Amino acid sequence: MKQLKTRIGIFDSGTGGFSILHRIMKKVPSVEIDYISDDAFAPYGEKSDGEIIERSQLITEMLLRRGCSLIVVACNSATAVAIEALREKHRGVQFVGVEPYINVLNHKDQFPGIKKAAVITTELTGNSQKFKELKQRIDPEERIQHVTMGKLASIVEDILEGGLNEPLRLNLHEELEPLRPLGLSHLILGCTHYPLIASLIERELNVTTVSPGPYVANRVSDLISSSGNEYTSDFFYMSTNSMVWEKRTGAYLTSLLRYSLAGQDVQ
Ligand code: DGL
Repeated sequence: MKQLKTRIGIFDSGTGGFSILHRIMKKVPSVEIDYISDDAFAPYGEKSDGEIIERSQLITEMLLRRGCSLIVVACNSATAVAIEALREKHRGVQFVGVEPYINVLNHKDQFPGIKKAAVITTELTGNSQKFKELKQRIDPEERIQHVTMGKLASIVEDILEGGLNEPLRLNLHEELEPLRPLGLSHLILGCTHYPLIASLIERELNVTTVSPGPYVANRVSDLISSSGNEYTSDFFYMSTNSMVWEKRTGAYLTSLLRYSLAGQDVQ
């Protein structure tokens, strides 16, 4: 008898979650994937905790109605403020969130050449209790500087939509300005949008970036006991602007990853 595939739901405020989605597609066989891009309410990073909790609940319910049994909150901001409320309300459902990988200094073997690191996040993530606790727990001596980025997620959306033109290159250059004098060797990307332009960030700042995608994919893989070896090359996609589900191919995803470091896996 053919085994029913596990259905995974993934959401983010926009395209940021694709930096997690493509890792899951490579790592977890025999699953079907639904992705919701909450464009109607983006960006999340500037909203209040209450608003993000409400949106996350609404989107989770849409994914549950599609039959998803595991939800990946592919957004640092929504993970920071909403994941506990989601777990509380939907007790039978597994939720996997995303957090910035700040314990780099404790894993120097994985990050050769690491000397000085900083973490960048949205305002919402940076102000959240969850992020503050994580930072305090893993980096009590504050060796890793934290910098909030106001517009970077929106700049990523613009670059992916229209390509990297001169005005956008300038916007990016200005947005990254506060990081330049820090003399960083490594930059931890604390918003899922940022890895989508990791190659541009690395070139601008001459740093190595650190993204949580592979760790999240490992966690999802651990939670799903699939025995097959058939990796999915497409997924179902819905933007909250259109509210229409459509099938998207791996080729579409590859085109969105053109400014990322998709070829270079951390592990
Ligand atoms: N991609 C999201 C994150 O990881 C949110 C970006 C935004 O909408 O501000 O925080």
